[in-house]
Amino acid sequence: MKKMMIGVIFLYCTIAHPVIIIGHRGASGYAPENTLTAFARAIECNVDMVECDVWKCASGELVVFHDAKLERLTDGYGSVSSKTLDELKKLVVLGYERIPTLTELFDFVDRRVKLYVELKGADIAHDVLQLIEHYVEHKQWQYDDFLVASFDHIQLRTIKNINSAIPVAALIYGIPMQLGACAEDINAQVVCLDVEFINQRFVDDIHNRGMLVYVYTVNDRDDFTRLIDYGVDGVVTDYPGYIGVFFANNN
Ligand code: G3P
Ligand code: CA
Repeated sequence: MKKMMIGVIFLYCTIAHPVIIIGHRGASGYAPENTLTAFARAIECNVDMVECDVWKCASGELVVFHDAKLERLTDGYGSVSSKTLDELKKLVVLGYERIPTLTELFDFVDRRVKLYVELKGADIAHDVLQLIEHYVEHKQWQYDDFLVASFDHIQLRTIKNINSAIPVAALIYGIPMQLGACAEDINAQVVCLDVEFINQRFVDDIHNRGMLVYVYTVNDRDDFTRLIDYGVDGVVTDYPGYIGVFFANNN
């Protein structure tokens, strides 16, 4: 069975339509989100890219965590940005995991897959930019190994203004009046749309502006089939094994 699964995934990677599979918060359907275990599971599922969420903590380090507050996912309380790294490292995530720093995640991934870094915290563009530049200049990474995403397009513009080589993805929730124009304005390479707010016209508009379309969060195979018909370029999913195998079996 395992050999068959590996075979299917291999086929998916080599001959199928080039829709990339992005593990959401790692493979958060299979392991506690945004932990190294979740990223390991995503890589085992042969994803093209892993998505993570980033905040800056009180002692200045960038940490990988989704929520602004600690309560839902940890045994701590209060905001992530008000705690030092020492304080955050003492917490357990969903009972048994630890909060990684962004540096720990980069080192763990070690270029096996690409990294989709979503800026959650305010004013962290410079810190993320400097970390990416460090890995490109000193650790043999390439700018194309990264995709920096955010709903905060002002931070994305800051990154583009300083270093245009870093790929960015404009996250959009809803359907703006000017469709993909806001992403084109900041020279984004990718527009990442909510699965609840997508249609053929929106996808075509983004493609006509020369950008790729990714979609979050796609866990349902009917949604996935619809998105393939629209011609999207990537999907962000909590279940990369399930979605990847479904895709391979239907192409
Ligand atoms: O980056 C796409 C998606 O992760 C955005 O929503 O809430 O899961 O961070 P959220
Ligand atoms: Ca995210």
